[in-house]
Amino acid sequence: MPALLLLLLLSMGGELVSCSSADEGQFAFQGFAAANLTLDGLAAVMPNGLLALTNFTLQTKGHAFNPTPLRFLDVNGATNSTAVARSFSTSFVFAIVSNYDGLSDQGLAFVVAPTTNLSTAIAGQYLGLLNATNGAASDHMLAVELDTIMNPEFRDINSNHVGINVNSLISRKAKPAGYYGDDGATFRDLMLNSREPMQVWVDYDGQARQLNVTLAPAQEPRPRYPLLSEAIDLSTVLTDTMYVGFSSSSGVVSTHHYVLGWSFSLDGPAPPLDFSKLPALPRVVSKHRSMILALVLPLATVLIIAAVLAAASFFVWRRRRFAEVREDWEDEFGPHRFAYKDLFRATDGFKNGNLLGAGGFGKVYKGVLPGSNLEIVVKRVSHDSRQGIREFIAEVVTIGRLRHRNLAQLLGYCRRNGELLLVYDYMENGSLDKYLYNNNGATLDWPQRYWIIKGVASSLLYLHEDWEQVVIHRDIKASNVLLDKQMNGRLGDFGLARLYDHGTDAQTTHVVGTMGYLAPELVRTGKATPSTDVFAFGVFLLEVVCGRRPIESGQHNNRVMLVDWVLEHHHNGSIIDTVDPCLMNKFNTDEVTLVLKLGLLCTHPSPNVRPPVQKVMQYLDGVQLVPDLPSTYMSYSMLVLMENEGFDSYIMSCPSPGMTICSVSDVSSATILLDGR
Ligand SMILES: *[C@@H]1O[C@H](CO)[C@@H](O)[C@H](O)[C@H]1NC(C)=O
Ligand SMILES: *[C@@H]1O[C@H](CO)[C@@H](O)[C@H](O)[C@H]1NC(C)=O
Ligand SMILES: *[C@@H]1O[C@H](CO)[C@@H](O)[C@H](O)[C@H]1NC(C)=O
Ligand SMILES: *[C@@H]1O[C@H](CO)[C@@H](O)[C@H](O)[C@H]1NC(C)=O
Ligand SMILES: *[C@@H]1O[C@H](CO)[C@@H](O)[C@H](O)[C@H]1NC(C)=O
Ligand SMILES: *[C@@H]1O[C@H](CO)[C@@H](O)[C@H](O)[C@H]1NC(C)=O
Repeated sequence: MPALLLLLLLSMGGELVSCSSADEGQFAFQGFAAANLTLDGLAAVMPNGLLALTNFTLQTKGHAFNPTPLRFLDVNGATNSTAVARSFSTSFVFAIVSNYDGLSDQGLAFVVAPTTNLSTAIAGQYLGLLNATNGAASDHMLAVELDTIMNPEFRDINSNHVGINVNSLISRKAKPAGYYGDDGATFRDLMLNSREPMQVWVDYDGQARQLNVTLAPAQEPRPRYPLLSEAIDLSTVLTDTMYVGFSSSSGVVSTHHYVLGWSFSLDGPAPPLDFSKLPALPRVVSKHRSMILALVLPLATVLIIAAVLAAASFFVWRRRRFAEVREDWEDEFGPHRFAYKDLFRATDGFKNGNLLGAGGFGKVYKGVLPGSNLEIVVKRVSHDSRQGIREFIAEVVTIGRLRHRNLAQLLGYCRRNGELLLVYDYMENGSLDKYLYNNNGATLDWPQRYWIIKGVASSLLYLHEDWEQVVIHRDIKASNVLLDKQMNGRLGDFGLARLYDHGTDAQTTHVVGTMGYLAPELVRTGKATPSTDVFAFGVFLLEVVCGRRPIESGQHNNRVMLVDWVLEHHHNGSIIDTVDPCLMNKFNTDEVTLVLKLGLLCTHPSPNVRPPVQKVMQYLDGVQLVPDLPSTYMSYSMLVLMENEGFDSYIMSCPSPGMTICSVSDVSSATILLDGR
């Protein structure tokens, strides 16, 4: 009874561990948790029963053998004293799991060897089977290799093949991994290192002396036709007792060679493997190529696309932000053209902190040109129409060519949509009107004023007579005279200037200029001439001496014309009384009288009476005496009243940017002013 019980228990235990008696030369491992394997090198059984022949350790081997030696030779079956190799059959499920898609280390082999001690074998391409002598008959080794590296020294057919090896790493027979369809004709490729489990069958027919090797994806039925079928007599290869097991080696590629299950049988078919009991493969925590492809690449793509989009939108934004209008005809003006980008940078993006002033024409900003560190003034002028812009720019460029120590240098321009930017030299001391009308602030003494007057006069001479073309400034006034570091007067703001060649009549244009500085014939005809400039210069002279604006509000809200007021004092013989009280009687009376008389002469209603600027210079230099005013001299206002002209009939507009608009209502009120007096 006890014996029967023991037998029962034994058989039950055998069932439980799925391990049959080694004595009969048969076993089956559905996972190796309970198996008693002889392991060496990197080989290890994982907690879940998975046999890992390798982990990733450079150039190391791993072996796993069934610990029990098996009798491979059948002495009894021999017809003579020579033993015959017995039939055997084995089946195993393996997986080659690499961190790289399609790339893994050497491979693994099912091995039949006389010893489990393969300490002399080397890793790498030798698969832990042999060493550099590459085997000899004395090794008595049979191996079925699952090779994933093509080693030319072993005449490997490719990097994904199955081979039958006898005492050598050079296969007796090898074929690319795959399996035949049941028709025997179709062939399906398999990737040994696809990370998918695959099943291998190795069958040896001792009678037929034939070795078959069959490969198939796990869980698929065994293919009818083997992948490899080789006639081989293992009697001469094997020894009596042999060990069966697996060998593998690691190289340089991070790879795991796993065996999930294994069955073996001598003299009969290997027991089938129960796939449901096989251990699971670890999930690939790929941090390399697959990772790169699966995760990093899409991420990188997204980042690249985002970067490209950002760069593109930045480019578009930048282009729009710094967009300019440029036409072919402007090429000839090239050197005077500024890039908006540069002006933008120079003025810190037209920040309010750089704002010098604002007027009807637009805003004026101070800036420093990048690179040259040149201090500039940028005048932003909006212009709506394209009309006249070409002429205007031609003018700007012409003006840019003007060089005189008493001219504020126009450096160039820039055009944008609906906007024109004029770039001038920066003048440290600002405009003259600040000193004349700013009662609290600094004022100028007489020598300074006389110096400025002479300077402006010489610049006007340059414009009218010394340059190749006659340049009419059209807007001479105190606020357009800028003072440099040395308090030199510099005539600026050429926005109103119109050019015409010497000897030809100035073409009729729109009336532009500033009220109070407009010669009567200019208002009447709209024709700007050197003489109308002289008129404005005359008003300017009176302005500087008297420290009063050309038109000022008087008593009873009446407007007082400076010219009329000075003329009245002249008639009364009290012209000195008109001198700016800020000078506190510290002035050269002759000079002051000269300038006042000259101012009146220049503002004479009749252009023929006004001296040309050349004469004006001579008077100022004392080369000639200022002639007495004609007795017929009537004031501008009186003349206007007498002529009884309707000013409303004149078109007052501002065709060019940068001009002070003379509105119709202003002229009308100037007329009305006379009625009030
Ligand atoms: C494993 O096998 C070896 C060699 O056959 C033997 O010495 C050892 O006792 C076995 N261990 C177990 C746990 O069966
Ligand atoms: C690989 O296996 C060997 C032997 O089991 C072990 O010493 C080594 O730490 C393992 N290496 C890694 C990277 O797991
Ligand atoms: C023994 O038999 C084998 C064939 O079974 C034959 O090849 C061999 O030569 C024989 N040996 C002797 C010594 O007769
Ligand atoms: C393996 O064989 C070598 C000699 O070839 C010996 O030095 C070593 O001790 C053996 N290892 C085992 C585990 O028997
Ligand atoms: C190579 O392996 C053989 C056994 O296969 C052994 O006799 C020989 O000593 C080994 N050579 C070296 C250099 O380890
Ligand atoms: C090997 O394969 C051939 C051809 O399919 C077959 O005839 C033979 O019986 C097979 N032998 C073994 C041992 O499976």
